[in-house]
Amino acid sequence: MWPTAELHVHIEGTLDADLIRALADRNGLPVPAGAGRGAPFRDLQDFLDVYYANLDVLRTRQDFHDLGAAYLARAAAAGVRHAEIFVDPQSHTARGVPVEDVLLGLSAALADARAAHGMSGGLIACFLRHLGPDAAMAALEAVLPHREHLIAVGLDSTEVGFPPALFRDVFERAAAEGLRRVAHAGEEGGPDYVWEALDILGAERIDHGNRALEDVELVAHLRATRTPLTVCPLSNLALRTAGPDLADHPIAVMLDEGLRASVHSDDPAYFGGYLDDNVRALVAAGTVTEDQVGVLAANAVASSFLPDAGKAALLAEIRAHAEQIGAAVPALALDPAAV
Ligand code: ADE
Ligand code: ZN
Repeated sequence: MWPTAELHVHIEGTLDADLIRALADRNGLPVPAGAGRGAPFRDLQDFLDVYYANLDVLRTRQDFHDLGAAYLARAAAAGVRHAEIFVDPQSHTARGVPVEDVLLGLSAALADARAAHGMSGGLIACFLRHLGPDAAMAALEAVLPHREHLIAVGLDSTEVGFPPALFRDVFERAAAEGLRRVAHAGEEGGPDYVWEALDILGAERIDHGNRALEDVELVAHLRATRTPLTVCPLSNLALRTAGPDLADHPIAVMLDEGLRASVHSDDPAYFGGYLDDNVRALVAAGTVTEDQVGVLAANAVASSFLPDAGKAALLAEIRAHAEQIGAAVPALALDPAAV
């Protein structure tokens, strides 16, 4: 198993049918009608409607701890050595769950994973675009008292109709508070959404970014600035934003173009797999080679918000793994200065 970093997983998207039933039972709630529903979905909104309805069973700090712990154990088995995890605080506070129960429950699971699996990680609080910029600013104010549990802010939910520019002020404020910035863009929205995320929000990573390939100037810019793209192939098939054949997935073009793309899981309970499942599916489809799997892992580590020493340590693990299995050592693992 290649050591790697998970940079694009929504913790609410790891809530599988078994855990939904267990939490519904524990909290005395009905099992949501969408429990167990999986791919394919008509589009992003069709999926999001199920995803938001199912997370109603998450009520207590213990629930968030258990959700995080289950994910982190599964991620450790996938070779994940560092996890930067998305959480949607507004989807919980809107239901009356205190924000500290969300953040402290997940943080406790991260602390346990450090002890149990030697994994590092942190949380990225995402703003729900469909609730608009004022609600995003209120959400930022709500999480700031707990900022020691956060690495970054992000932007997710319904993309088209909610362009990044709407969220300029909240991202500016987050940056002033010392938080890193990422944004979903180019999943369903066009290259203009990616440009806005970069130029107006100051996004340091683009989540998905598939549609950036439609704009040659943008591709050149992403290459020159080594801007990371966190790509989720099984998600793209499930939401029909790529495919239907994984052999045609844009990750191959991204790597050929020299973009800093890496592979992640998005919402694994719904889309048929975790990070390792995504990578295995790409190799099975002939979309990437085993040597390129090493490149994807090195790109993920380089794209993380780990300090330089942490990146160097994980790149050394990748180099050792490549040598052990007789694969090519990824260039970034040979020359950490290129990170
Ligand atoms: N929230 C959870 N999964 C998402 C996705 N794939 N795109 C946007 N928002 C999301
Ligand atoms: Zn996502």
